[in-house]
Amino acid sequence: MAQPLIDSIKNSSLKNKIFFSVTVVILLISVLIALFTRWILISTLVSELQQRGLGIGYSIAESCRGFILTKNKPQLTSLVFDARLGARKELVRYVFIKDKQGRILAHTFTSAFPGQITDANRIEPEKDHRIRLMDMGGDRVYDVAVAVKEGIYRIGSVHVGVYKKHIDQLINKLRTTFLGFVSVVIIFFFIISHHLSKTITQPITRLTDVSDEISRGNFDVQLDLEKGLQQGGVKDEVRQLSRSFINMTNRIQESQAKLKESDNKYRSLFASGPNPIFVLDRKTLTILSANPSAEETYGYTREELVGRPFTDLGPFDLDENKWAELNAQHAGSVTTISSKVQYFKKGNQAFFVNLHACPAPYEDKNALIVATTDISEMVEKDSQLIQASKMTTLGEMSAGIAHELNQPLNAIKMGSEFLEMMLEKEKGIPERELFHIVREVSSQVDRAVDIIRRLRDFGRKSDFTREKILINDPVNSVLDIIGRQLRLQNIHVRLRLTADLPPIMAHHNRIEQVIFNLLTNARDAINLREESGRGDPRREIIIRSYARDSQVVVAVSDTGIGIDPAVKDQIFEAFFTTKKMGEGMGLGLSITNGIVEDYGGRIDIDSREGQGTTFNLSFPAVPQGR
Ligand SMILES: Nc1ncnc2c1ncn2[C@@H]1O[C@H](COP(=O)(O)OP(=O)(O)OP(=O)(O)O)[C@@H](O)[C@H]1O
Ligand SMILES: [Mg+2]
Repeated sequence: MAQPLIDSIKNSSLKNKIFFSVTVVILLISVLIALFTRWILISTLVSELQQRGLGIGYSIAESCRGFILTKNKPQLTSLVFDARLGARKELVRYVFIKDKQGRILAHTFTSAFPGQITDANRIEPEKDHRIRLMDMGGDRVYDVAVAVKEGIYRIGSVHVGVYKKHIDQLINKLRTTFLGFVSVVIIFFFIISHHLSKTITQPITRLTDVSDEISRGNFDVQLDLEKGLQQGGVKDEVRQLSRSFINMTNRIQESQAKLKESDNKYRSLFASGPNPIFVLDRKTLTILSANPSAEETYGYTREELVGRPFTDLGPFDLDENKWAELNAQHAGSVTTISSKVQYFKKGNQAFFVNLHACPAPYEDKNALIVATTDISEMVEKDSQLIQASKMTTLGEMSAGIAHELNQPLNAIKMGSEFLEMMLEKEKGIPERELFHIVREVSSQVDRAVDIIRRLRDFGRKSDFTREKILINDPVNSVLDIIGRQLRLQNIHVRLRLTADLPPIMAHHNRIEQVIFNLLTNARDAINLREESGRGDPRREIIIRSYARDSQVVVAVSDTGIGIDPAVKDQIFEAFFTTKKMGEGMGLGLSITNGIVEDYGGRIDIDSREGQGTTFNLSFPAVPQGR
């Protein structure tokens, strides 16, 4: 039974708990005080009653000594009746006197002497008196026995019976008064504790209500609380609590406002930003949301985009390391996923983008915010620049090319002149000779066509795509074009190419451009060294290719003038040149660097001033089996 009561107290409101505990404590204290007071009162009254009995007993004992010795019963009888006279009747139930042998000498009983009380209260030999509570036909009586002595001898005893009901009546009267008093006290405290619990819990209840309202987003209620605080003069803990509560809600309001502000900021950035922005599910890469610029750029409506896999638009290639990097990042830090990748608009129209992503939470999901920046224009400008530089190179090469073309043309001319001469002389041409000449003319035409084809290939505008190529191929085709010219300038090219290298992801035509720039720079450096008068008899360029770690390296070394350490950091800048006006634009290495970076490669330079330079180009090899 106690358990449900405890449980219901535990589950009751704070107000009831306070009320209940205050009431219980007051009740306990009142009961204890009542019991203690009652105990003190009873023991005081009992001892008072006994003292009075003893007083009467001793005074009779004093007076009756002689009468006992003389056995003067009439005197003794008058003595005992005297003791019960007047007001004492209410107090004294009986008096009797015994002699030494226990014979009753006198008593106040009007009826027969009740024999059972004769020896009920015997005084021990060494004591003077003894008191004992006895039951006498419904009355409770203290039998006060006092010894009567003559010298040191006991000659008898006086017994005085005093009513206990005398004090019982008093106690009853007191109990009623006391109970009344306690009830008044309890009612009083009951009201006080009720009021107290209400005073304590009311502000707390108010706070709870206010916090409920605030949690529902209604911050106006806080004003009520402040008003209440200003009015109320109390300086207790509840007031402190209200203060901290107000401070807390102020903070919440402030941070909510900030949050709203930044939310609005990001929302407007998202909505009106010029770049297409997508929100993707981090696990499935499904599009969760897209901004208007994404709709406009890709030509799909929002409805068409949402729910579609992002990879429908273009590649989203991330290796494990990049994923780990992306996942480990805090929201807000941006990772470049890939640059210059081809993405597709509705209707399969391709364009180039740079892809950036950052992790962010979105509607309780782990999301990725992906921005695709359209760089088609930049790529177009790049390739125009490259094209312009190529055209310059071709112009530069035109003398050499003319010379090269001259040879097959001369051979054809010679062949045709011979045939003409023979026809003029009307000499028959032996069939074998005719066949030989025609074949030679045809092969010279092939040679000329080949030269033109190579030039045309080189001059063709290359698009920005990646495919598997073997690094040795563009090296060989560039040498096919300018090898002869280098030889004409007395520059010896030594090839140390490793066969069976793993492929790299690049574009043949662009790598040709790179090799071409390096070879023309090497050629210029060798010539400059010669001009400076510190010429090396070894005018040579060494081209090596090899694999190292998971890289494919192509290295171009020359015995040229070397690079001045002071300008080493500048040579990749566009339009930086140390060459004379009209001899160099300063674009070769800047274009080279751009192309190498596009394919994930890097350039290391090893140069000694006045002795020669090596350009090491390394590209990531395509892993086997891919
Ligand atoms: N192999 C090399 N040896 C010595 N210096 C070099 C070598 N390659 C490049 N340089 C230095 O780097 C500078 C920049 O080279 P870059 O190819 O960019 O431009 P350029 O050759 O001067 O002109 P362009 O290539 O446009 O005709 C050169 O002017 C030269 O000073
Ligand atoms: Mg150059």
